[in-house]
Amino acid sequence: MRMLYEGKAKQIFETENPEEIIVHYKDDATAGNGEKKGTIENKGVLNNKITTLIYKYLMKHGIKTHLIKTINERDQLCRKVDILPLEVIVRNVIAGSAAKAYHIDEGTEVKEPIFEICWKDDNLGDPLINDYHAIAFGLATREELDEMYAQVKKINELMIEMWDHMGIRLIDFKVEFGKTSDGEIILADEISPDTCRLWDKETNEKLDKDRFRRDMGNVEEAYEEIFARLEKKED
Ligand code: C5P
Repeated sequence: MRMLYEGKAKQIFETENPEEIIVHYKDDATAGNGEKKGTIENKGVLNNKITTLIYKYLMKHGIKTHLIKTINERDQLCRKVDILPLEVIVRNVIAGSAAKAYHIDEGTEVKEPIFEICWKDDNLGDPLINDYHAIAFGLATREELDEMYAQVKKINELMIEMWDHMGIRLIDFKVEFGKTSDGEIILADEISPDTCRLWDKETNEKLDKDRFRRDMGNVEEAYEEIFARLEKKED
């Protein structure tokens, strides 16, 4: 199969059906826009499983996603979409780049969720932009942005509840959307400890990629813990 694209954590392959692709999850991990590189053993397998369980939950609750089915430990069959060059970030609690930018302590609750968009461009380092930039630069239309924000609001509400049942606080997360051949905007890419900040409700222990970014150790164990709790929840 021909590889169409290779990202930091995944490879995309074509299939015989022009409307479908295969998403292959790798163990590679990067942080700081590629400045820090490494591998997290078994991450691809765990993130494939974790994304699958989260997507199934979201789909059950009316969110449309690119996932068709999970084929094996590292591969998913997905609808082919044109990914909008935007990362949509939701912050329920201040952490990471927001803590740094606004000099607010990590862990500070905010009055309502903050939605941010970043322009997906490695050369620029994925800069934070606003709706006016996105429209002016032709990255998305007003209608596409409105649709994305509506879905993100619902995804956040569903995920806060889902993680809460597993004893986890959803601090923040990033999602991406794609456009199908018939113009629909659907959730694409992954949702995993690579793309979410997840803190244990009781202990505030970090169970996400910050363990890799900040050299905290026990990275794989954190991903395993997230998968174990998700799997238990499904039963
Ligand atoms: O680094 P920052 O605090 O802006 O990240 C906010 C959230 O978005 C975190 O959950 C992080 O894992 C996620 N993120 C991501 N991919 C990026 C940037 C941020 O998944 N390129």
